[in-house]
Amino acid sequence: MDLLRTRIDLGAIAHNTRLLKELVGAVRLMAVVKADGYNHGAVDVARTMLANGADALGVATLAEAHALREAGIRAPLLAWIWSPEQDFRAAIAADIELGIPTTAHAKALIDAAAPARVALKLDTGLHRSGLDETEWEPVFRALKTAEHLEVTGLFSHLASADDPADPETDRQAERFRSALNLARDIGLETPCNHLCNSPATLTRPDLHFQQVRVGLACYGLEPVPGLAHGLKPAMSWEASVAAIKPIAAGEGSSYGLTWRAAQDGQLALVPCGYADGLPRAAQGHLEVGINGQRYPQVGRVCMDQFVVDLGENPQEVSPGDTVTIFGEGGMSATELADGLGTINYEVVCRPTGRTVRTILEEN
Ligand SMILES: Cc1ncc(COP(=O)(O)O)c(C=O)c1O
Repeated sequence: MDLLRTRIDLGAIAHNTRLLKELVGAVRLMAVVKADGYNHGAVDVARTMLANGADALGVATLAEAHALREAGIRAPLLAWIWSPEQDFRAAIAADIELGIPTTAHAKALIDAAAPARVALKLDTGLHRSGLDETEWEPVFRALKTAEHLEVTGLFSHLASADDPADPETDRQAERFRSALNLARDIGLETPCNHLCNSPATLTRPDLHFQQVRVGLACYGLEPVPGLAHGLKPAMSWEASVAAIKPIAAGEGSSYGLTWRAAQDGQLALVPCGYADGLPRAAQGHLEVGINGQRYPQVGRVCMDQFVVDLGENPQEVSPGDTVTIFGEGGMSATELADGLGTINYEVVCRPTGRTVRTILEEN
């Protein structure tokens, strides 16, 4: 067995997708599988999502979209980060729908004269990517006359939906509605429009429009602190204990000897370090799970390993035992994120380096 691994539970992915599809009813569910499926393995999770109610897939880059097509996935697929300098014609040929975030992207597609499906990405307040409000009318008009382009709809991304009390979501929704009215007035058809990410999908059914774009919740993590929708986390990060070492009271462990043993005891060495994605700043915030017990990580996280204080080791933890860094049997990704001062999105993207992915098929 590999010493460091993520365990990806496709049964949990299936459960979450079914739950989300039930929640949105007739609205289309686009499952977001960018960043290699939030580091869960895009091809495996995409297949599972599509078999359990997802109607379409969303990714960031063209390379991510091509990888899904090359794996034989034929479902509707939208990519929203690309450059007119790239070979976007190959993407069109692979039936990849392109998001249009600037007038330069719109012009490139109009000039290319190749039939393509496109979705217009609008900036309604995030001020990251998307057409500015002043560009909406000229771009809508240009696309209306570009007969080789099929506009699937308008979409936009929310800035603050993870805080349901923040009025910014309503302000963005208002601007989105004004864009829809403008398209209608110009005569540009936009049959499938979408605004909601995971937090808005779960908390704002009034903003579902024709489609929602859901990432995090498909992977079983709650996007809004404090809410519980019955999602099942799909990822656990695990290692095998590499060695057990004695330590005497007063001795220190790991670089700088920043931690010293209060009493005679034992340490477990875990083959996972910052080169594998565990932040060095995790010191003092991580408790691992071993055989149903929680133990503190102590001392500096190194490049390749960290140390766990087993106390007197009453449970007789031994080399080869499974150490859960986060996931079932240990801290949740959300709990670890809180400790690290980050978000669960980042925690599931962390396991990299020498981590080997293990896929658990659905039962
Ligand atoms: C444009 C866009 N839509 C949808 C999503 C999915 O967001 P979430 O994971 O909150 O569902 C993302 C992810 O950040 C995104 O960038």
